[in-house]
Order: sequence, then C-alpha cells, then structure tokens
Amino acid sequence: MNKKNILITGAKGQLGREMRKVLEGDIFVNAIYTDVEELDITDDVAIEDCVVSNKVEYIVNCAAYTAVDAAESNVGLCTKLNVEAPTLLAQVAHKHGAKLIHISTDYVFDGTSCRPYREDDPMCPTSVYGLTKADGERHIMDIAPESIIIRTAWLYSPHGKNFVKTMLELGRSRETLRVVSDQVGTPTNALDLASVIASFINCEEWHPGIYHFSNEGAISWYDFTMAIHRIAGITTCHVLPCMTKDYPTAATRPHYSVLDKSKIKATLGIEIPYWEESLEQCINSMHNA
Ligand SMILES: NC(=O)c1ccc[n+]([C@@H]2O[C@H](COP(=O)([O-])OP(=O)(O)OC[C@H]3O[C@@H](n4cnc5c(N)ncnc54)[C@H](OP(=O)(O)O)[C@@H]3O)[C@@H](O)[C@H]2O)c1
Repeated sequence: MNKKNILITGAKGQLGREMRKVLEGDIFVNAIYTDVEELDITDDVAIEDCVVSNKVEYIVNCAAYTAVDAAESNVGLCTKLNVEAPTLLAQVAHKHGAKLIHISTDYVFDGTSCRPYREDDPMCPTSVYGLTKADGERHIMDIAPESIIIRTAWLYSPHGKNFVKTMLELGRSRETLRVVSDQVGTPTNALDLASVIASFINCEEWHPGIYHFSNEGAISWYDFTMAIHRIAGITTCHVLPCMTKDYPTAATRPHYSVLDKSKIKATLGIEIPYWEESLEQCINSMHNA
C-alpha cells in the first residue's frame, strides 16, 4: 500500500493536535508529528534532513508565532517564525517536490471592508503579527507557487490558549465580564480546519493557491462569549458589551474580518458547519474528555 508521507510542524499547537486527530485513523497516511523539540522550523538544515530522510510529500505548517499582542514588542521572533521559517519550508518543499500547506490569518486585512473578504482582496495588515503573516504568504508564493495557503480566523480548540477556554475560565470565576461587541468575524473550530486540510491532501487533484476558511456566520466577540457561556451552562457571570476603545490592546485588531469562503467550498465541494454547531462540538468534547 502506498502511504502518503506527511510532515506536521507545530504538532503540539491547537491546529497540530487536531491534525493528529483527523489523520490518526487514516491507513493511507504516514504522518510525522513534530514540534520545536523534534523539528525547529527556523533550522534550514534540520528541515531539509527531515524532508529528505522521511521522503516527505506534504508539509502542513501548523507552527507559527501566534501571540498577537506580544508580537508588537517581539518583532524579531515573530518575523523569524512567521516570515523566515515559512520561507525555508517553501524552499525545501519546492526543491524536493513536496507540497506545502501553510496557514495564514484574517489579520492580513485591515477590517475596513463592508463585505466578506475574498482571497484576492489587497492585504493591509495593521499589526506586527498581521504584517509578518502577510510577508510569509508573499515569500511562499514567490518561492513555491504550487503551495496552498489557508487563511483562517478566531481559531479555537480544546487545547492551548484560546478565546473559548479563556471565556470558560472567566465565566466560572467572575461575576461580571466586559467583552468587545464592535469587532465582527467568524470563529473557527480547529478540528474543522484540520478536516479541510486533510481533504486538500486526499483530493485527486492538487489545487494550489490561497483560500479562506472559517466556520459559517458572522458574530462579535460579545456574541461569541454569550454562546460559550450558554452552551457550557454558565449562568453566574453577567456579560456586558463594550467598545474596542474601552479595551485597549497592544495590537490593533480588524473591526470586521469575515472571510468569504466561496472558493474553498467550490474547490472541495464541501459544506461548512455554522460557528455555533462547531462551538458546541468543541465544548462537549472538553466535557467528555
Ligand atoms: N490562534 C488563532 O486564533 C489563529 C487565527 C488565525 C490564524 N491562525 C494561524 O493558524 C495557525 C495555527 O495556529 P495555532 O493557534 O494552532 O497555533 P499555536 O497553538 O500557537 O501552535 C503553534 C505551535 O508551533 C510551535 N512552535 C513555536 N516555535 C516553533 C519552532 N521554531 N519550530 C516548530 N514549532 C514551533 C509552538 O510551540 P510553543 O507553544 O512552545 O511556542 C506551538 O506548539 C498559525 O499559522 C496561526 O498563525 C491562528
């Protein structure tokens, strides 16, 4: 049986762990799960060694610098991980005929649109994180245009640090909570994103290019919090809406970052679950763990 050799980087992160869940039962896949201890994506020699010795055919880059506010004062490390490392991965992938799937973000846009962002809308990031992710995209497509880049948004999973887990913790420990209601986007369950990545790999035809993926719908962080508490049965915390100006953060975030997903739906022939259904799946899986 011919198995596909797939390298997963950042395998201990939110998306990396969900990739493992999705690929684990696939008998046609030989996945190599690595995080920084096994494969540091800033080490060009190590990347090439890994790709060559494991005859890697697909690289799924789940590693990144994702601390959006900390990035504002940590430009060097953020650039290394989000620009230089994806550049190295693209160089090695292109040289050895491996296909790269890289993940980017809605933060490459400035959030001033009044309709969902399409893949070919001009990038205009307003934060260090967004700038580095945008540069990473450009470098990858210059070096290895056969790559797939998936921009996603508001990613969460049962693991790691994310908005859902933070709101569950705060909801259980606080009597009141203020959450911004003037930033609108769409959450993404990392498990849904991992399934879509697997679909690209399992597709008979390879479809290079940039894609947008999140769950369906459009909500504010306030709406999201209300749903998180409702699904988790948290009734003791009073959630109040507030404005971005009342909750200053180091990084500027887009006010509107809904992604248009027509292209990925048409390419893969998929339906995407609504954000609430996927949120319920995630919270239930945390309760059952
Ligand atoms: N989180 C979001 O809301 C969001 C939104 C839009 C797009 N995205 C994008 O989605 C992708 C996945 O995000 P995520 O939330 O799953 O990220 P994550 O949970 O922060 O995971 C990233 C993983 O990469 C690891 N890593 C750090 N430096 C590394 C290195 N030099 N070599 C190898 N691995 C390294 C991290 O280890 P440590 O934890 O030890 O640093 C971590 O395990 C990223 O490209 C991100 O930009 C995320």
